[in-house]
Amino acid sequence: MRAHEAGALHGNDAAPTWLPYPSDVNTLIDGLWSRTTRRTEDGAVEVGGVSVARIAEEVGTPAFVLDEDDFRHRARAFRDAFAEAFRPLAGADVYYAGKAFLCGAVARWVEEDGLGLDVCTGGELAVALRAGFPGERIALHGNNKSLAEIRRALEAGVGRIVVDSLDEIDLVDAIAAELGLRAAVMLRVTTGVEAHTHEFIATAHEDQKFGLSLTGGTAFEAVRRVLAAEHLDLVGLHSHIGSQIFDTGGFEVAARRVLDLVAQVRDELDHTITQLDLGGGFGVMYNTQHTPSTPEALASGIAGIVEKQCHELELEVPHVSFEPGRAIAGPSTQTLYSVGTVKDVRLGGPHHRVYVSVDGGMSDNVRTALYDADYSCLLSGRVSEEQPEVVRVVGKHCESGDIVVKDEYLPADVRRGDLVSVPVTGAYCYSLASNYNHVPRPPVIAVKDGEIRTLIRRETEEDLLGLDVG
Ligand code: LLP
Repeated sequence: MRAHEAGALHGNDAAPTWLPYPSDVNTLIDGLWSRTTRRTEDGAVEVGGVSVARIAEEVGTPAFVLDEDDFRHRARAFRDAFAEAFRPLAGADVYYAGKAFLCGAVARWVEEDGLGLDVCTGGELAVALRAGFPGERIALHGNNKSLAEIRRALEAGVGRIVVDSLDEIDLVDAIAAELGLRAAVMLRVTTGVEAHTHEFIATAHEDQKFGLSLTGGTAFEAVRRVLAAEHLDLVGLHSHIGSQIFDTGGFEVAARRVLDLVAQVRDELDHTITQLDLGGGFGVMYNTQHTPSTPEALASGIAGIVEKQCHELELEVPHVSFEPGRAIAGPSTQTLYSVGTVKDVRLGGPHHRVYVSVDGGMSDNVRTALYDADYSCLLSGRVSEEQPEVVRVVGKHCESGDIVVKDEYLPADVRRGDLVSVPVTGAYCYSLASNYNHVPRPPVIAVKDGEIRTLIRRETEEDLLGLDVG
C-alpha cells in the first residue's frame, strides 16, 4: 500500500513521499521535457516551435508529439560519446534499439546520424528495410526467430544476427548454406547479472528465456559450434543486462563475465574474439526520483571498466557496441491528452483523490499498469494561478488499473477541455500500444522549427473494423 503522507498541509493527503510539492505548478521540471519544450508568453507549452493548442486543433488528441531535434541530438550524443571514450581503445559504435520506438522516419534519422539499428522481429526489420536502412548496419535479435525472419535478414545482408540458442546456430547455418552465403553472428550470452544488483545476488537472473548461459558451459559450447559451422562467421559476444539502469555496476560484472569467456575461447579454442556488444538499458528521468547519467559519463565509465578488465585478463580490447533505445527515444516525446471528466472521489474520513480522466490511457501507455511506472504530467494548454493539488490521471478504458500518472500535482482548477502533457513517453509507449476496448491508436507527429509532420497517422475505426472480416 502507498503511504498518504503529504497530509492536510497541501489540502490533499494522497501525495507519495517522493513527490515534491511544487513551488510553481506551471513550471517545466528540468530534465523531464525534450530540449525544445518551453512555455510561450501566453502560457501554453510549445515544442519544436509548435504550441500544444495548435497540435490539438490540427492533429487532435491524444497524440504522441516527438521533438525531432531532441531525438536526433540524443542519438548523436550517444554515438559521439561512445566513439570518443573508446577511441583510444578499439573503438565503439551505437545501435539504436528500435523496439523502443520505430517508424520509417526514425529509421532514416538513425541512418543519417550514423548509428546502427537493432531490430528484434521481422516487423521491425521490414520497417528498417523499407526505410532504406543499410543491411550491414542492422543487428537482428530475438529469442525465437522464425525461419522466414532469419532468411529475410540474411537476404538483406544484416551485419549481425544475434543468436540466442544452440538450436538457432544450426538453423542459421542451414539457411545460410541454402542461400549460398556466410552469416555473421554474435552470441547472446546470459551473464547472470540482474540490473541494479551486485554480483552476489546477480545469478538471480539466470532464470529467464534469453541467451546462452555461462553456467554449465552452454555459451562456450555455442562458441565452439559457431566456429565449427561451415557457413557462420563469429562476429563476437553480446550481453544485455536489463533496462532503466542508472549505474555502471551491472555492466562491470557483465563485461567481466563475457571477457572471461573471451579469454577461455582464446586459451582453449585458440580463437580471438574481437567484438563485444554490451546491449542497452541506460535509464531516463520519468520523475524527480531519477537521475540519469550523461552519455559521456556512461561511455567513459564503461570504457574504463572494459580496459581494466582486458588488462587483467591480458586480452586485446575488443571493439564494443551498445544498443540504447529508451535513452534516445524516451525523453524526445510527450503525449498530449485532453481532459474529460474530473472526479473528486471521497475515500472515507478526510481522504479524497482527484481523478482526472484523459482521452487515451493504458492503450497508449501501458507502462504504469505493467511496470508500476511513475510518470509526471503538466497542464500544458495554459498556466493557472490556482493551488497545486495531487491528482491521478486515468484513461478511458474499462478497467480501474487504467492509470497513466499515479500521482502528480496539477492546478486545482484543472477541468474538462484542458490539455495535459505527459513527458518521456517516446520509448515503449507507442511500441507497446494496443487497441484495448477498440480504442484506435494515436498518431505520432514530429515537430521541428514550427512544422508538424505526421510520422504515423491516427488509427481510425475503419482500420479496426477492416480487420474484422469474419
Ligand atoms: N538490446 C537488447 C538486446 C534489448 O533486449 C533491449 C531492450 C535493448 C537493447 C534496449 O534497452 P533500452 O536501452 O531501451 O533500455 N518494455 C520495457 C522495456 C523492455 C526492454 C526490452 N529490451 C519497458 O517499457 O520498460
